[in-house]
Amino acid sequence: MKILVIGGGGREHAIAWRLKQSPGVSEVIASPGNPGIAQLGRCLPAPATAAGFADLAQTERVDLTVVGPEAPLVAGVVDEFRARSLKIVGPTRAAAQLEGSKIFAKQFFSRAGIPTARSVETGSAEQALDTIKRFTLPVVIKADGLAAGKGVIIAHTTDEAKRAVETLGPLLVIEEFLEGEEVSFIGISNGREVLPLEASQDHKRVGDGDTGPNTGGMGAYCDGRILTAEQTGIVMDRVMNPAVARMAAEGMPFTGFLYAGLMMTPDGPKVLEFNVRLGDPETQALMHRLEGGFVEALQFAAGGERVRLQWKQDPSVCVVLAAQGYPAKPRLGDPINGIEQAEAVCAVVFHAGTKLSSDRLVTAGGRVLGITASGRTLRTAIENAYSAAAKVHFDGLHFRRDIGANGLKRW
Ligand code: AMP
Ligand code: GLY
Repeated sequence: MKILVIGGGGREHAIAWRLKQSPGVSEVIASPGNPGIAQLGRCLPAPATAAGFADLAQTERVDLTVVGPEAPLVAGVVDEFRARSLKIVGPTRAAAQLEGSKIFAKQFFSRAGIPTARSVETGSAEQALDTIKRFTLPVVIKADGLAAGKGVIIAHTTDEAKRAVETLGPLLVIEEFLEGEEVSFIGISNGREVLPLEASQDHKRVGDGDTGPNTGGMGAYCDGRILTAEQTGIVMDRVMNPAVARMAAEGMPFTGFLYAGLMMTPDGPKVLEFNVRLGDPETQALMHRLEGGFVEALQFAAGGERVRLQWKQDPSVCVVLAAQGYPAKPRLGDPINGIEQAEAVCAVVFHAGTKLSSDRLVTAGGRVLGITASGRTLRTAIENAYSAAAKVHFDGLHFRRDIGANGLKRW
């Protein structure tokens, strides 16, 4: 089977890496891919349109396409493929609104009875400021559209709230601040049923101990103990199954990866957001830990039979190495060294923001590499990832030192 991966970040490198080792996969290609993926298969420039991707899949005689990022999904790449009877994993443009618009998502949670934070939508700055007065601080302020994880501000003072409204614009969701353990819960659906992946945890803030601005994610870990079997059952019953059932009932069956960002509150899980794709960097940790069944799960989402995923016992950890200035304004073009040495420490180095510039690997994005390792215990997995990370160097490199530490505290 020949598989096309759309995208070119760390998540797509991890998907391609897992696929490349899967029985029955003869070739993996990517568009646009990145220098890490290029070591596994051909990378082709990304076309500008959904039709361009479908042309590419036809020319290359691809058997199945997997979409990594949300942008092509929101642009309707799945609709285009289906119109040409090409197999693809991802939601249609209509279903992708679950991520594309926070307002759509909040209204959907309400229609589907999915537990979430109490919230109010606003359409003008005046209304937003008025609404904020009715919430206790801290209050959470979210921009409506896609913002790569950076459209959310938690305001602790009225002044911070005012500035957030100025920064994010008038189309907002204002919501109550929830406390609890944050969990990334991802399922894969064929439009009728959902197959859960293992739960993982992301680290969204740039600094140790969850300080500083939000990022796309500074690291993740996957450990079978993040949720108990009972909690997983509750998430399936209250969140995943109702979401898929309601989307189908509303004429927008959800196919592909459904990612619920959950807060595990004393009242049970509440959904902070839905994403319509795999998480980044959660996928790097998930793919490292996944043992078997991935290709079959993709086929299930593209219209096939329900399958079982097999997971390794060993927890996995992904530490993101970020560029100078990330998340505000990452500096690009810094030469990268030490990847081979890092891999020699029993880690996989997933490329996220790298490129080749006259044969030198240089930084080309905010999140540069995802150093991913496992271990018999979570502590060993963390140690392995950090020993490998220590081998990599580029100017201005920064990373969090506490990826997975939350798990060590809990168990
Ligand atoms: P979102 O893009 O909605 O997932 O928000 C990004 C991050 O902001 C989340 O991962 C949480 O850490 C935080 N966040 C969002 N909504 C809330 C909320 N209602 N209460 C507390 N934290 C939140
Ligand atoms: N890691 C968060 C996300 O992929 O949205």
